[in-house]
Amino acid sequence: MIRIQNIIAAGLAASVLFVATAALAFDESPEVVKQRIGAGNPVLGKTRSELCQGCHGEFGLSLEDLIPNLAGQYANYIAKQLRNFQSGARTHQIMSAMAQTINDEELTDIAAYFSSQKKMQGNGKGENPVAKNLFTKGDASRGIPPCMSCHGVNGKGQAPNVSTYPVIGGQHKSYLVAQLTHWRSGERSNSPDGVMNKVAKTLTDAEIDALTDYISGF
Ligand code: HEC
Ligand code: HEC
Repeated sequence: MIRIQNIIAAGLAASVLFVATAALAFDESPEVVKQRIGAGNPVLGKTRSELCQGCHGEFGLSLEDLIPNLAGQYANYIAKQLRNFQSGARTHQIMSAMAQTINDEELTDIAAYFSSQKKMQGNGKGENPVAKNLFTKGDASRGIPPCMSCHGVNGKGQAPNVSTYPVIGGQHKSYLVAQLTHWRSGERSNSPDGVMNKVAKTLTDAEIDALTDYISGF
């Protein structure tokens, strides 16, 4: 991160570097996908997730802006959220009920199925200076680290075996607004060490609007 920023400051081949890193983020080679889907069986997961596909889409791309895309999301992240809905660590009227309908083996396979799909992608209209600044540099005066430092270049996640930080680039805008608002209010509080509550605490409505325009475009 710091090295990349220094290189930009020095005005050297930064764009080449970014293109190279972005290309990595879009790597959908069998080896990358295999690491992303983890231990579950995506073939079994396809039939086990029929109910889920009704809302999240056959290929993990939902048609409703408040229902998140799951396509290409880290399987371990999907599984963690489902377990959090089951335990009550995360609550949502529909999803808390849905998560109760599947056991742990089904959950792992379903997560693998959605994870094995081609990674979610936005419409490319992400440009927004306020959001870009927060996303790539953060705001040290308010203790906000760059979103990119955890969620990866363009919010596409880190390495395929680092599942702590979900893919957010190309996610639906309304869903992102809802999550950031819930992190800010504390209504959602299931991130490790409350990290997302800290990140979102001082974001204004205008910043959330800008950030979600930007992130959903990737
Ligand atoms: C009736 C529609 C509906 C059905 C059916 C449904 N979901 Fe959801 N799902 C949602 C909505 C809405 C949310 C957003 C919850 C929120 O805002 O916190 C969601 C959120 C999620 C998330 C969190 C994603 C993230 O990025 O954090 C996961 C994982 C998930 N659903 C998996 C499933 C699985 C697996 C099933 C099937 C057992 C399922 N869903 C069935 C509507 C549905
Ligand atoms: C220090 C690391 C870190 C930073 C910095 C960070 N995040 Fe996160 N973020 C996380 C983690 C970890 C999660 C997953 C929480 C969980 O397990 O439920 C997350 C989850 C999210 C989610 C929910 C995704 C979903 O599918 O439900 C959104 C949206 C989000 N972050 C946006 C942002 C934005 C915007 C910024 C910058 C302003 C940011 N994050 C900065 C670590 C970070």
